[in-house]
Amino acid sequence: MIKIAVLGHGVVGSGTVELFLKNKASIEKRAGRPIELGYILDIREFPNVPYADKFVKSVDDILSDKEVKAVAECMGGVGKAYEFTRKFLENGVSVVTSNKELVATHGAELISLAKAHGCNYKFEASVGGGIPIIRPLHHCLAANEITGVAGILNGTTNFILTKMFTEQMSFEDALKMAQELGYAEKDPTADVEGDDACRKICILASLAFGKHVYPESVHTEGISAVTKADVEYAESWGGKVKLIGRAEKLPNGKLYIMVAPSFVPTGNLLADITDVFNGIMVFGDAIDRVMFYGRGAGKFPTASAVVADIIDVVKLSGPSVSLSWADSAQDFIADCKECETALYVRADCNSLDEARESLSETFCKPVFLCRENAPANEIAFIVPKEKESVIFEKLNKLSGKISVKNTIRIFDV
Ligand code: HSE
Repeated sequence: MIKIAVLGHGVVGSGTVELFLKNKASIEKRAGRPIELGYILDIREFPNVPYADKFVKSVDDILSDKEVKAVAECMGGVGKAYEFTRKFLENGVSVVTSNKELVATHGAELISLAKAHGCNYKFEASVGGGIPIIRPLHHCLAANEITGVAGILNGTTNFILTKMFTEQMSFEDALKMAQELGYAEKDPTADVEGDDACRKICILASLAFGKHVYPESVHTEGISAVTKADVEYAESWGGKVKLIGRAEKLPNGKLYIMVAPSFVPTGNLLADITDVFNGIMVFGDAIDRVMFYGRGAGKFPTASAVVADIIDVVKLSGPSVSLSWADSAQDFIADCKECETALYVRADCNSLDEARESLSETFCKPVFLCRENAPANEIAFIVPKEKESVIFEKLNKLSGKISVKNTIRIFDV
């Protein structure tokens, strides 16, 4: 018999407890031994749940019980969650987590701390909710040189974009609905402004390429500047607007990594991912590409991944060797302005004819887009692939003729 504990009884923590108790018999069978839920840490009172006797308010009550061998950290944030995770790992107690902020910020350190103390730090639930992606990346795809990872990594923004553009829901109503369904972060700015997706692409890139990528090193844009006009132009171009996180090994060895709204062409599997679903593509030298798809947020999808990690650490007799990456200086991250991209541009102009003529002289075959009921002074076009800084220099030189309102990169892989 071993004991486990759950830290935090919010959406993911309560889901973890409920799922564990519901499927306890099959979970124990898969783990190969009896497992008892020993403790739930939360400062709040939950007198009406059937497992009310499991609650404790002090982490020391759990640390002092030497039968506790694994802890699920579902608190979130990098304050107490970091402090408690360190304490458990230093005591040889494995920690599993859904906390992407903590993994993205301190992953390299916590993995190596776990190794030093003969236990594990696992985080399947930190990316893609219920989608298995962490384990496939370092186990099933281990024979490959990974060349890239890209996907829709935030359920809330995908849900908002879907509701806004297929049901004409307002941004605020769609966000409220996502919050009520338990998809959004406590502070939804992290979803809307791309920080949550940034943490997730950092985790995937760190694992895929073996060096810790810190969120501050990643160019990050959210969806707050995307308008209905942009979506209509994307449709007329033949695609959708999606918030894409991507990391790609460049021929010069540097890592091209960013989170940004992107035009995704119809035909690319990511274009058809709607609602809270996430989709993650992994590119490798042997597999070409594989795609992972499923519910990227929500109580039970995320709990599914947390409980699977609990089963895993209960079964493991020592630290997992493959789940790791090195702490590193960030000099291997490419400056995205110096990389090539094709770009969608929406602008105002004085004269459409004059603007088109100047744009055609400046860029090699720009593609002009149209949409119904566009204002007479609005122009939208796609410029072909070129170094980003060069495209913006050229656009600046045209500032007398066009006034740029928004730009969105084209995702063409
Ligand atoms: N807020 C996150 C999302 C939760 O919407 O994807 C899952 O990480």
